[in-house]
Amino acid sequence: MSFRTIEMVVPGILTSDGAGVNLRRIIGSPQLNMLDPFLLLDEFGSNNPEDYISGFPPHPHRGFETITYMLNGKFHHQDSTGNEGHLTDGSVQWMTAGRGVIHSEMPEQTEGLVRGFQLWLNLPKDKKMIPPAYKDIPAENIPRVDFPGGTAKVIAGEFMGATGPGQPHTGMFYYDIELQSEKELSIPVIDGWNAFLYVYEGTILIDQTVKKDQLAVLGKAGDCQIKAADQGAQFIVAAGKPLNEPVSRGGPFVMNTRSEIIQAFTDYQTGVLDKV
Ligand code: CO
Repeated sequence: MSFRTIEMVVPGILTSDGAGVNLRRIIGSPQLNMLDPFLLLDEFGSNNPEDYISGFPPHPHRGFETITYMLNGKFHHQDSTGNEGHLTDGSVQWMTAGRGVIHSEMPEQTEGLVRGFQLWLNLPKDKKMIPPAYKDIPAENIPRVDFPGGTAKVIAGEFMGATGPGQPHTGMFYYDIELQSEKELSIPVIDGWNAFLYVYEGTILIDQTVKKDQLAVLGKAGDCQIKAADQGAQFIVAAGKPLNEPVSRGGPFVMNTRSEIIQAFTDYQTGVLDKV
């Protein structure tokens, strides 16, 4: 049995998005532009309402999926296909933008802790223009697996016999794991898939140390063998089959070519983004 070693550790950069939400951009930054098929990973988290209160007013997307996982807090989602949802503690919102969606993500609380992640998962070339879809996944529908030394929440993919409710259009898994002090865990990953781990509490050891607020990009073969440091750790881990297709980005759109990006802006400006 071979184990994956760490190829790179990145800290993420502090930035803001939407109408001024302070967040940490971990994938989609100059240090790590993407990790095919993952295009972006943001962590938002604050006790201070000024960091999140202005939310994300209506904005478009095309060509990929957004997976929002709320550790804490309440957000309200509305989109151009008529979907409406309420994100609460521990829930997941899985939105397939496909050919186009215009949505808003606004806080429903004016005080207290808001914390979570948004992950962008690319769609393969032949699925970029599928009809948009939206799925609200309440916390109680996310399987929780207890194992010696910790617990795992399975958002997508399969882990220790539990299958997550997320329905990605490409091969991937996404787990949230808590590992107690000095405990070890082995996570099977298909050879060739790209995998990352982001530590949001505590410290873990793989072949090097990964601390809170750091993301580790793992090598391409073998399982992932993790040990928690003495204070224990909480981390998200995801892996996906690389699409190996050209990626052209333009703000909220991710397509294969520059001309498809220009078309997306034109469709948005002429009001047919989600109707083409
Ligand atoms: Co959005």
